[in-house]
This record gives sequence, C-alpha cells and structure tokens, in this order.
Amino acid sequence: MSEALPRTRTRGATRASQKAAAHARARAERGASPARGRGIALSRRLFAPVDLGTSVASVELRNPVMTASGTAGHGAELAGYVDLAALGAVVVKSLAAEPWPGNPAPRLRPTPAGMLNSVGLQGEGVERWRERELVDLLDRGAVVVASIWGRRVEDYERAARLLEGSPGVVAVEVNVSCPNVEDRSRMFAHSASATRDAVAASTAAGVPLWAKLSPNVPDITEIAGAALDAGAEALVLVNTLLGMAIDPVSGTYRLGSGPAGGGLSGPAIRPVAVRAVHDCRVAFPAAGIVGVGGVTCARDAVEMMRAGADAIEVGTASFADPRASAKVLYGLNRWCRLNGVERLRDIVGSVHQAGEDRP
Ligand SMILES: Cc1cc2nc3c(=O)[nH]c(=O)nc-3n(C[C@H](O)[C@H](O)[C@H](O)COP(=O)(O)O)c2cc1C
Repeated sequence: MSEALPRTRTRGATRASQKAAAHARARAERGASPARGRGIALSRRLFAPVDLGTSVASVELRNPVMTASGTAGHGAELAGYVDLAALGAVVVKSLAAEPWPGNPAPRLRPTPAGMLNSVGLQGEGVERWRERELVDLLDRGAVVVASIWGRRVEDYERAARLLEGSPGVVAVEVNVSCPNVEDRSRMFAHSASATRDAVAASTAAGVPLWAKLSPNVPDITEIAGAALDAGAEALVLVNTLLGMAIDPVSGTYRLGSGPAGGGLSGPAIRPVAVRAVHDCRVAFPAAGIVGVGGVTCARDAVEMMRAGADAIEVGTASFADPRASAKVLYGLNRWCRLNGVERLRDIVGSVHQAGEDRP
C-alpha cells in the first residue's frame, strides 16, 4: 500500500526517528537504563507497521481518507498536489443527469472558522464526466466514488442509470441536500419520505449507495433510517449547514445566490458532524458511516472515527491547502505509530465503549 507522504514531513519524520534512536543510543552508552528502555520503545513505535485499511459497509478501502464532494474538483484536479491513488477514494463533485450552470458569482465567502459557498451544483452532467473526468481519474489509479443529485426523484434515477456499469466507481454518494422542485423546493434531505424516494431511485446505479445527509434537521437519525430502509448501505454525515452573509455597509447579500444563501463548512461545523456521526452510530450500529465536516488534520479524523465513522472526507481544508487530504493520511499513520494503534479500524466507535466516562 502506498501512502501520500508530503516530502518535508517525510524528511521530518525520518529525522525525528533518527534523533530518537541516537538519543537512546547515547543514553545507553552512559548506562541510563530506564531512558534507554523508553528510547527503544519509542523507536519501535515509530517503525511499527500500521494497518490503515477500513471498510464502508461492503466497500473495502485501503485507508479511511477521501476527498469531500465538490471540494476536489470533478476529476483529477488535485493530482498535482496529492497522489490520488494513495487516498482511500476520491469523491467527485455531485453530478446531475444533465449539465447544470450553478449559481452566479460570488460563490464563496470566508467566515471566521470556515466558509460559505453557493456554487449551486454546477456540472457538465454524468455522460461527459464519464467520458472525460472518470478516465483521467482511473488513469491515475484513483478509487472513485461518484456523487449524484437531482431536482426531482426521476432525476436521481436518470443520473444513476447513466452511471451504471462505470468502471472503477465503487459506490455512489446520493446527495440529497438539494431543492426538490416537486415539494416547494424543500430539500430532499429535510424530509424522510423524499430522502427515501431519492435513494430508492438511485439503486439504478447498481453499486453500493451512500446517502449524504443534511445536518439541518431536528433528528438526523430519522432521515438516516429512511435512507437505509430505501437501500443505502452507508451514511455520509454531513453536508453543509444553511448560512448567509450580508454586507453591513451596502446592505446586500454577499453571495450571488442572494436570498437563497449558502452552505457553511469548515472547522466551525466539525462538532455538528461529530454529533451526527455519534448519534447515527448508536442508532445504526451495522451501517457504514463516513464523517465529513471540518476535518483538517489527523486528530480531527481520529475524533470522527472514535465517534463512529468508518472513514472520513476532507473538504474545505483542501481550499486552504490542496495537500490537506494527503497530510491527514500521513498524520493518521504517524498518530497510529505514536499511540500504539496497529489497526486503525479498531478505534471506530471507541467512545461508545467508554460508557459514561467523562473528563
Ligand atoms: C465549495 C463547496 C462545494 C461543495 N459541493 C458539494 C457537492 O457538489 N456535493 C455534495 O454532496 N457536497 C458538496 N459540498 C459539501 C462538502 O462535500 C462537505 O460535506 C462539507 O463542506 C463539509 O465538509 P468540510 O467542512 O470538510 O468542507 C461542497 C462544499 C463546498 C465548500
């Protein structure tokens, strides 16, 4: 298994372990036995083999780090920064059956701990994506998760049918955080029955379905239950939170979508995502769960996995640093070594075994 090791960090890690070993040797020569023991233990830990493999329901992944839909392009745009073949999977921008223009600019707005976006699901449609972007991703050895969206239930079915038989697509993420034009543009994800219908329609893709849910609901387990009943084998938690920004001087909307507002992402929403993962793990112990929302480093990923996520996706962090997903992966490997974790999947849901333990 290859891992995406950012160069400088690799050199840093090597220096650190060489230093630890040299330190241990020096102390051993002075006859300082307890520290010698510690030095050797640290060296052993730094070189211990780590199994980063995981599975999201029936889908086996080489490691739990994926890109989040819409934050890593439609295809191989991040390839200049990240070895896409080293990631668990690349989740691409949500695709509709037909090309879709998205919202007017401006589409992004920084916030104190993240950002607002109103991209509006711009895309060239499944067919062109299959011809152009998918081929490029597969050439680079990426494991691909396609994401689909629609404005009507039948749109999901059409997009799913167009994806059927796509080589290298291991799962379809069903993005239900989109306005349902047949229900006064209420989001599919805000209604258990609409989520059920959209997911059921997506089974036409013929690959495992992951339902990507919205956090803007009173009880996410109710929507999650409907998605699983309809045939999803995994939950992707969460999409952006509804947000808005207004210019205090001009009094106008900051985003081109105007009164429709945008979606908040980044570190500000991580606790919301952790809670959603936690509660859904309790409600659905056997479901695959992918945590997404504000993951910027390995420790964030570990938190998400301890809450119950089998895997994680890195989104907004890639805007600040396009190598973010590779760095999270590298950091997870290092975290496991330093903490004596031989199989990363062993920590999934560990907080639930902690029972009533509190700080
Ligand atoms: C610019 C932008 C575009 C996004 N586009 C999509 C999309 O097409 N489909 C989707 O399911 N989620 C989309 N998302 C949501 C992300 O995949 C992710 O769920 C959310 O941003 C939370 O993760 P983060 O805090 O790591 O970014 C988008 C997010 C951003 C910031």
